[in-house]
Amino acid sequence: MNHRSSIALATAIVLSVIAITIAVTARQSPEPLTGNWVVRTQNNDGTFRTTYLNLKQEGARITGTIRVTQFFYHISESTGGPDRFTITGSMMDGKSERRVQYEGKLVGDELHITTRRRPTDNPTQMVAVRAPAGEGALPARNPLPSLHKVPDNGLARTPPMGWNSWNKFASRVDDATVRSIADAMASSGMKDAGYLYINIDDTWEAGRDARGNIQTNKKFPDMKALADYVHSKGLKLGIYSSPGPNTCAGYEGSYGHEEQDARTYAAWGIDYLKYDWCGARTLYTDEEMPAVYQIMGDALLKTKRPIVYSLCQYGRLDVWKWGADVGGNLWRTTGDIRDAWDSMTRIGFSQNDLAPWAKPGHWNDPDMLEIGNGAMNETEYKTHMSLWAMLAAPLLSGNDLRSMSPEILAILTNRDVVAIDQDKLGKQGRRVWQSGDQEIWSRPLSGDAQALAFFNRGSAAATVKVKWTDLNVNGKWKMRDLWSHQSVDWPGSDYSVTIPAHGVVLLRLSH
Ligand code: GLA
Repeated sequence: MNHRSSIALATAIVLSVIAITIAVTARQSPEPLTGNWVVRTQNNDGTFRTTYLNLKQEGARITGTIRVTQFFYHISESTGGPDRFTITGSMMDGKSERRVQYEGKLVGDELHITTRRRPTDNPTQMVAVRAPAGEGALPARNPLPSLHKVPDNGLARTPPMGWNSWNKFASRVDDATVRSIADAMASSGMKDAGYLYINIDDTWEAGRDARGNIQTNKKFPDMKALADYVHSKGLKLGIYSSPGPNTCAGYEGSYGHEEQDARTYAAWGIDYLKYDWCGARTLYTDEEMPAVYQIMGDALLKTKRPIVYSLCQYGRLDVWKWGADVGGNLWRTTGDIRDAWDSMTRIGFSQNDLAPWAKPGHWNDPDMLEIGNGAMNETEYKTHMSLWAMLAAPLLSGNDLRSMSPEILAILTNRDVVAIDQDKLGKQGRRVWQSGDQEIWSRPLSGDAQALAFFNRGSAAATVKVKWTDLNVNGKWKMRDLWSHQSVDWPGSDYSVTIPAHGVVLLRLSH
């Protein structure tokens, strides 16, 4: 090769290197929205609520994922670009599709975004910053065990009774609150009436230490000490987790740490676990729920500590048919209750068909009590208490026991009504008669007795007149009204009773 051609070759090589470098750089320089973005919102306990938007922008198209609390969405629609864009995420949750929509724009190197929970809500404004690639990614899906029957743990021979923090306190629950609720439980008469478990719901969790041990957040500095305190009052302590990576409020779940968490609970002295599906929906289908719940059922048994196992998956996949087989002592049968007449009655009066599945050790759970939370009147709260007793439902008070009125305390601790709930036969009541807004439910009790509840769901007082034989009540009985605490003379073959609006007349029939 002569000198000139060497120069030409060298020039060609240099030019190609430059061209390749330019091409590679161009390909590597991503469009501005591309990247992993995070919004960190501080909770009041040292933890953060995070939202990850893992975006890929290709011209006017944005794809990627959104992970927030218990949800993981794939972006299915997008419009606009860095100056103003809208992305819609969707995910399958059981058989239904969930969607979220975010609007946003790039401001410097921040994403300013707004979202609404429901189209009619005020928008929430958030600022996302760049996060390292992979941060916030969903963990890989762990394989599931094959199904077997988890042995009965021997607990909850009658429906569990106690208190749970969620309905009143939600994320505001902390160590001091739990201690003072335990004090009130012990001193108010609630404990004497049978209320035993003090259950901490979601938001006690922090992350995990280097060995994977679940940590408590600032609100619960020492869970073992808290358990000791609750036990010193003759009460028991319950806790909450999820089989998913995150709980419903977005806190750390037990996913991949089930046995380790069960051991931690046992070491702390925990007596009850509510295990809430929540973030498990990002990894598993509803059909996989039994296997997922079995993992914790086995793990709890393995600790050898008696821990009541409460399944919370909103009644999906007919949980009453398999809840006991995976070790469950109780299982939620519906979505969340609210302190409202409509919510309480929609749940309570829809439980009729589930009666065959309740039995000692294994109960249908129509959710915690709202009695005393203020949005229903005393008549309605008596209906709530009576209906839950007829359903052999767990009685987990959900109000502030430290400041309840004597009237609310009297409703929660009505011994006669509690005795119906706790009847050792463990048979759930059923509807035996209905006419418009009035319905009569009957529950067989031990000792050849029965409870009859005359409900009036209407908004005016109503008189119900029935023949005993229409209710399958034959012969003559001793009768007691459990709210007036009076015996009622046997009225003969017919019975007529006036029930207040939204009220109940609850009778115990015995020989
Ligand atoms: C779900 C449950 C509730 C409560 C919250 C906590 O909604 O159904 O009972 O535990 O999660 O985040």
